Amino acid sequence: MRFRPAIPGIGCPPHRASPRRRPPAPAPASAGSFTAWLGVVLVVVLFSGGLFGYDQGVISGALTGIKSTFTLSPLIVEVVTSWVTLGALLGALAAGEIADRIGRKRTVLIAGALFTLGAAVQSLAPDPAILVAGRLIIGAGVGVAAVAAPLYAAELSPAAWRGRFVSSYQLAITIGIFLAYLVDGWLSANESWRVMLGAAAVPGLLLFIVALIAPESPRWLMKMSRRADAAVELKKVSADADVESDLDSIGSALARGSSRATWGEALNPEWRKPLPVGLGLAIFQQVTGINAIIYYADQIFGAAGFASEASRTSVTTWAVGGVNVLATLIAIGFIDHLGHRRLLLTGLVGMTASLLVVGGAFRFITLTAPGAAAATAGPSVAGLVTLVGLVAFIVSFAFSLGPVVWTVINEIFPGRIRGRAVAVCTAVNWGSAFLVSQFFLSLVDGIGSSATFWLFALLSFIGLVWVYVYVPETKGQTLEQIQSIWKGPAK
Ligand code: BGC
Repeated sequence: MRFRPAIPGIGCPPHRASPRRRPPAPAPASAGSFTAWLGVVLVVVLFSGGLFGYDQGVISGALTGIKSTFTLSPLIVEVVTSWVTLGALLGALAAGEIADRIGRKRTVLIAGALFTLGAAVQSLAPDPAILVAGRLIIGAGVGVAAVAAPLYAAELSPAAWRGRFVSSYQLAITIGIFLAYLVDGWLSANESWRVMLGAAAVPGLLLFIVALIAPESPRWLMKMSRRADAAVELKKVSADADVESDLDSIGSALARGSSRATWGEALNPEWRKPLPVGLGLAIFQQVTGINAIIYYADQIFGAAGFASEASRTSVTTWAVGGVNVLATLIAIGFIDHLGHRRLLLTGLVGMTASLLVVGGAFRFITLTAPGAAAATAGPSVAGLVTLVGLVAFIVSFAFSLGPVVWTVINEIFPGRIRGRAVAVCTAVNWGSAFLVSQFFLSLVDGIGSSATFWLFALLSFIGLVWVYVYVPETKGQTLEQIQSIWKGPAK
């Protein structure tokens, strides 16, 4: 079995998330008014997430055209497909350093530039080598944006809105995936792959332009000992804030010597409580199978009896892509009220149950190799059960691990190490995504489709128990208040 249940808490002193260990009740966060500057922050977040989703999703539809333009060996086809993930992993790791060194806003600018450049290089590529270079560049943009945008949103949004702001990033990812599915359906002929891949240059350039005028994070400015600049930026995004007292509280949370932590410090045992929580959430978000379904939906539905390409495309676009957007949109309305823990726990129950059902349905159908014809002329009962199970899984994910993981990862670390720690968690998330998408089909080959979905169900169940034990509630607290959660004695 290739996937081992990954339980980052193991080997580290556990942090029990019992209500008794929560910090003294924080003052309720007031939402404040929504300023135009907050609108700019939101646009940065939406464009970054949208490009992440689009660039991740578009390749499956572009491949046929690419293969008809160039003669590609199977190895190069794999490289063209998967090196976005590699670039994203490297981009995410570098982004932590960059975001701490030159600031959040300028890191978003770099992401915008990479998206634009990568899209242009891919679309104009005269040969496969340049195409692969373009894939790497766009991947780096995805990785940099995946670190910078949620971090930017978490640091600039008022506590009462933070969940909604960071999960707008998730909403944008789902919209990007949905658009990629739609575009894949519309443009499938020959050279149109250049349009599919090149289209990302337009929002990439817009992201760059919006980031030019966007405010810098007051928290990063405080870290750089630029209190006067921090006051100006804080006033922009929180018109009603008591700026001096807010900056005092950010300053005291940052206090402790140097302004920027080293990698050694970021991974220091001192952070043995938040780091396993961040890593665990990053891993569970992926090893429970979301991207196996996003990437291979077409084949899964083919096996479930959706025989024609048109029926598979529309069921993938709407039942996976559309449902994902809609459920994420609804989840955003609840995230700051229901609390992150409750959403995670409920969602993981739904994910476990729906994966059990899908695994059961696959006792009666077979997931075939890529491109193989569907087994039946129309969806069987088991095929329809699979469809319902997958929709329930997507809804459960969209309510829980989708938006909440990015929100929690971006709020649990102390300011001094936040950039690097978020980068490590994001890179681990990409690494896990790469493993799952790379090995899903081999796993199906090795242990069968039912056992593969049941394995995802088992991992979801382990995730449920792990969240119950280790993940504390953070809703409505300022980033500084959240730090007191980790202050309890190490066990
Ligand atoms: C994950 C992506 C996934 C997407 C699906 C995101 O939170 O990080 O890997 O494709 O959700 O909506």
